[in-house]
Amino acid sequence: MKARIAIDGPAGAGKSTVARAVAKKLGLAYLDTGAMYRAITLAALNADVELSDGRALAALTAKVELDIQINSDGENVIFLNGKNVSKEIREPQINRNVSYVARCPEVREIMVSKQQEIGRRGGVVMDGRDIGTNVMPDADFKFFLTASLTERARRRLAELQEKGISLTLPEMMAEITMRDKIDSERECSPLQAAKDAIHLDTTEMTIEQVVKFIVDIVVGS
Ligand code: DC
Repeated sequence: MKARIAIDGPAGAGKSTVARAVAKKLGLAYLDTGAMYRAITLAALNADVELSDGRALAALTAKVELDIQINSDGENVIFLNGKNVSKEIREPQINRNVSYVARCPEVREIMVSKQQEIGRRGGVVMDGRDIGTNVMPDADFKFFLTASLTERARRRLAELQEKGISLTLPEMMAEITMRDKIDSERECSPLQAAKDAIHLDTTEMTIEQVVKFIVDIVVGS
Protein backbone atom coordinates (compact mmCIF):
# COMPACT_ATOMS: atom_id res chain seq x y z
CA MET A 1 0.00 0.00 0.00
CA LYS A 2 1.23 3.52 -0.78
CA ALA A 3 2.26 5.70 2.16
CA ARG A 4 -0.26 7.38 4.45
CA ILE A 5 1.08 10.61 5.92
CA ALA A 6 -0.52 12.59 8.76
CA ILE A 7 0.31 16.28 9.22
CA ASP A 8 -1.16 17.97 12.29
CA GLY A 9 -0.61 21.25 14.08
CA PRO A 10 -2.21 24.53 15.12
CA ALA A 11 -3.75 27.15 12.83
CA GLY A 12 -1.30 28.89 10.51
CA ALA A 13 1.56 26.42 10.96
CA GLY A 14 1.63 25.92 7.18
CA LYS A 15 0.11 22.44 7.19
CA SER A 16 -2.14 22.76 4.14
CA THR A 17 0.44 24.31 1.83
CA VAL A 18 3.07 21.82 2.95
CA ALA A 19 0.75 18.81 2.79
CA ARG A 20 -0.36 19.71 -0.73
CA ALA A 21 3.23 20.13 -1.93
CA VAL A 22 4.37 16.89 -0.27
CA ALA A 23 1.48 15.02 -1.90
CA LYS A 24 2.39 16.46 -5.30
CA LYS A 25 6.07 15.55 -4.95
CA LEU A 26 5.31 11.99 -3.85
CA GLY A 27 2.40 11.39 -6.23
CA LEU A 28 -0.09 10.95 -3.40
CA ALA A 29 -3.62 12.29 -2.90
CA TYR A 30 -4.14 15.21 -0.54
CA LEU A 31 -7.01 15.71 1.89
CA ASP A 32 -7.51 19.00 3.75
CA THR A 33 -9.71 17.85 6.62
CA GLY A 34 -10.11 21.39 7.98
CA ALA A 35 -11.95 22.27 4.77
CA MET A 36 -14.56 19.66 5.65
CA TYR A 37 -15.30 21.33 9.01
CA ARG A 38 -15.30 24.68 7.25
CA ALA A 39 -17.92 23.47 4.74
CA ILE A 40 -20.20 22.26 7.55
CA THR A 41 -19.74 25.64 9.26
CA LEU A 42 -20.83 27.40 6.08
CA ALA A 43 -23.87 25.12 5.80
CA ALA A 44 -24.77 25.80 9.45
CA LEU A 45 -24.45 29.58 9.08
CA ASN A 46 -26.50 29.52 5.88
CA ALA A 47 -29.21 27.48 7.57
CA ASP A 48 -29.16 29.63 10.75
CA VAL A 49 -28.32 26.59 12.86
CA GLU A 50 -27.25 27.48 16.40
CA LEU A 51 -23.57 26.42 16.60
CA SER A 52 -23.89 25.24 20.20
CA ASP A 53 -26.78 22.91 19.30
CA GLY A 54 -25.04 19.56 18.76
CA ARG A 55 -28.17 17.76 17.66
CA ALA A 56 -29.07 20.36 15.06
CA LEU A 57 -25.49 20.37 13.78
CA ALA A 58 -25.48 16.58 13.58
CA ALA A 59 -28.78 16.55 11.67
CA LEU A 60 -27.45 19.14 9.26
CA THR A 61 -24.15 17.27 8.79
CA ALA A 62 -25.99 14.04 8.03
CA LYS A 63 -28.19 15.83 5.49
CA VAL A 64 -25.68 17.90 3.50
CA GLU A 65 -23.88 16.51 0.50
CA LEU A 66 -20.15 17.08 0.89
CA ASP A 67 -17.92 16.19 -2.01
CA ILE A 68 -14.16 16.71 -2.20
CA GLN A 69 -12.33 16.59 -5.49
CA ILE A 70 -8.68 17.21 -6.36
CA ASN A 71 -7.90 19.62 -9.21
CA SER A 72 -4.90 19.51 -11.56
CA ASP A 73 -2.84 21.61 -9.10
CA GLY A 74 -3.47 19.03 -6.41
CA GLU A 75 -5.77 21.42 -4.53
CA ASN A 76 -8.94 20.22 -2.84
CA VAL A 77 -12.12 21.55 -4.41
CA ILE A 78 -15.00 21.43 -1.96
CA PHE A 79 -18.59 21.02 -3.10
CA LEU A 80 -21.44 21.60 -0.68
CA ASN A 81 -24.77 20.37 -2.04
CA GLY A 82 -23.29 20.51 -5.54
CA LYS A 83 -21.92 24.07 -5.24
CA ASN A 84 -18.19 24.81 -5.29
CA VAL A 85 -17.60 26.58 -1.93
CA SER A 86 -13.78 26.39 -1.91
CA LYS A 87 -13.43 30.20 -1.72
CA GLU A 88 -16.36 30.89 0.59
CA ILE A 89 -15.05 28.55 3.30
CA ARG A 90 -11.93 30.75 3.68
CA GLU A 91 -13.90 33.89 4.58
CA PRO A 92 -13.30 35.54 7.99
CA GLN A 93 -16.80 34.61 9.14
CA ILE A 94 -15.93 30.92 8.74
CA ASN A 95 -12.54 31.40 10.44
CA ARG A 96 -14.30 32.89 13.45
CA ASN A 97 -16.89 30.13 13.77
CA VAL A 98 -15.35 26.89 12.58
CA SER A 99 -13.86 25.86 15.93
CA TYR A 100 -17.34 25.81 17.46
CA VAL A 101 -18.53 23.37 14.81
CA ALA A 102 -15.35 21.26 14.92
CA ARG A 103 -15.73 20.66 18.65
CA CYS A 104 -19.13 19.00 18.20
CA PRO A 105 -18.67 15.21 18.72
CA GLU A 106 -21.56 14.29 16.40
CA VAL A 107 -20.09 16.33 13.56
CA ARG A 108 -16.64 14.85 14.15
CA GLU A 109 -17.98 11.32 14.09
CA ILE A 110 -19.36 11.80 10.57
CA MET A 111 -16.30 13.68 9.29
CA VAL A 112 -13.82 11.21 10.79
CA SER A 113 -15.58 8.25 9.23
CA LYS A 114 -15.38 9.92 5.79
CA GLN A 115 -11.70 10.71 6.38
CA GLN A 116 -10.95 7.15 7.50
CA GLU A 117 -12.63 5.79 4.40
CA ILE A 118 -10.24 7.88 2.28
CA GLY A 119 -7.31 6.89 4.52
CA ARG A 120 -8.02 3.19 4.02
CA ARG A 121 -7.40 3.56 0.28
CA GLY A 122 -3.79 4.53 1.12
CA GLY A 123 -1.52 6.88 -0.79
CA VAL A 124 -2.68 10.03 0.97
CA VAL A 125 -1.37 13.05 2.83
CA MET A 126 -3.97 14.32 5.28
CA ASP A 127 -3.67 17.48 7.32
CA GLY A 128 -5.69 18.49 10.35
CA ARG A 129 -5.64 18.41 14.13
CA ASP A 130 -6.36 14.77 15.01
CA ILE A 131 -5.07 12.87 12.00
CA GLY A 132 -2.14 11.16 13.73
CA THR A 133 -4.06 10.57 16.96
CA ASN A 134 -7.53 9.63 15.80
CA VAL A 135 -8.15 9.51 12.04
CA MET A 136 -5.06 7.53 11.01
CA PRO A 137 -3.38 6.43 14.25
CA ASP A 138 -1.57 3.79 12.18
CA ALA A 139 -0.28 6.26 9.56
CA ASP A 140 3.14 5.41 8.13
CA PHE A 141 4.47 8.90 8.92
CA LYS A 142 3.23 11.50 11.37
CA PHE A 143 4.38 15.09 11.53
CA PHE A 144 3.39 17.85 13.95
CA LEU A 145 4.14 21.32 12.60
CA THR A 146 4.30 24.39 14.81
CA ALA A 147 5.49 27.99 14.49
CA SER A 148 5.48 30.99 16.81
CA LEU A 149 2.13 32.74 17.28
CA THR A 150 3.41 35.90 15.59
CA GLU A 151 4.66 33.99 12.56
CA ARG A 152 1.44 32.01 12.24
CA ALA A 153 -0.60 35.21 12.43
CA ARG A 154 1.64 36.82 9.80
CA ARG A 155 1.14 33.90 7.43
CA ARG A 156 -2.64 33.92 7.83
CA LEU A 157 -2.69 37.69 7.40
CA ALA A 158 -0.73 37.43 4.14
CA GLU A 159 -3.25 34.87 2.85
CA LEU A 160 -6.17 37.15 3.71
CA GLN A 161 -4.49 40.25 2.29
CA GLU A 162 -4.19 38.46 -1.05
CA LYS A 163 -7.97 38.22 -0.96
CA GLY A 164 -8.33 41.92 -0.10
CA ILE A 165 -9.41 41.29 3.49
CA SER A 166 -7.59 43.49 5.98
CA LEU A 167 -7.07 42.71 9.64
CA THR A 168 -4.33 43.97 11.97
CA LEU A 169 -1.62 41.64 13.29
CA PRO A 170 -2.91 41.87 16.89
CA GLU A 171 -6.45 41.07 15.69
CA MET A 172 -5.17 38.02 13.82
CA MET A 173 -3.08 36.91 16.80
CA ALA A 174 -6.15 37.15 19.03
CA GLU A 175 -8.26 35.14 16.56
CA ILE A 176 -5.66 32.39 16.22
CA THR A 177 -5.16 32.23 19.99
CA MET A 178 -8.91 31.79 20.46
CA ARG A 179 -9.11 29.05 17.81
CA ASP A 180 -6.11 27.18 19.24
CA LYS A 181 -7.68 27.37 22.68
CA ILE A 182 -11.00 25.88 21.54
CA ASP A 183 -9.29 23.28 19.32
CA SER A 184 -6.91 22.21 22.11
CA GLU A 185 -9.33 22.23 25.01
CA ARG A 186 -12.31 20.48 23.43
CA GLU A 187 -13.17 17.07 24.86
CA CYS A 188 -13.49 15.20 21.58
CA SER A 189 -10.13 14.45 19.89
CA PRO A 190 -8.46 17.80 20.62
CA LEU A 191 -5.51 19.26 18.75
CA GLN A 192 -2.67 17.08 20.00
CA ALA A 193 0.58 15.67 18.73
CA ALA A 194 0.62 11.89 18.43
CA LYS A 195 3.23 10.33 20.72
CA ASP A 196 5.11 9.02 17.69
CA ALA A 197 4.87 12.24 15.63
CA ILE A 198 7.96 14.04 14.39
CA HIS A 199 7.80 17.66 15.63
CA LEU A 200 8.99 20.50 13.45
CA ASP A 201 9.07 24.18 14.38
CA THR A 202 8.68 25.98 11.04
CA THR A 203 9.03 29.56 12.37
CA GLU A 204 12.34 30.16 10.64
CA MET A 205 11.75 27.83 7.70
CA THR A 206 10.47 28.40 4.17
CA ILE A 207 7.71 26.20 2.77
CA GLU A 208 10.28 24.56 0.47
CA GLN A 209 12.50 23.66 3.44
CA VAL A 210 9.60 22.10 5.34
CA VAL A 211 8.49 20.12 2.28
CA LYS A 212 12.04 18.88 1.73
CA PHE A 213 12.34 17.87 5.39
CA ILE A 214 9.22 15.71 5.14
CA VAL A 215 9.91 14.27 1.68
CA ASP A 216 13.47 13.31 2.68
CA ILE A 217 12.19 11.39 5.68
CA VAL A 218 9.51 9.57 3.68
CA VAL A 219 11.74 8.74 0.73
CA GLY A 220 14.72 7.87 2.90
CA SER A 221 12.88 5.43 5.13
O1 DC B 1 -6.90 23.80 9.28
P1 DC B 1 -8.09 24.75 9.24
O2 DC B 1 -7.80 26.12 9.77
O3 DC B 1 -8.74 24.81 7.91
O4 DC B 1 -9.14 24.08 10.23
C1 DC B 1 -10.41 24.62 10.45
C2 DC B 1 -10.93 24.20 11.82
O5 DC B 1 -11.28 22.83 11.84
C3 DC B 1 -10.00 24.44 13.00
O6 DC B 1 -10.68 25.20 13.97
C4 DC B 1 -9.70 23.10 13.56
C5 DC B 1 -10.73 22.19 12.97
N1 DC B 1 -10.17 20.91 12.55
C6 DC B 1 -10.32 19.85 13.40
O7 DC B 1 -10.85 20.00 14.49
N2 DC B 1 -9.88 18.62 13.03
C7 DC B 1 -9.28 18.44 11.85
N3 DC B 1 -8.86 17.21 11.51
C8 DC B 1 -9.09 19.54 10.97
C9 DC B 1 -9.53 20.78 11.37
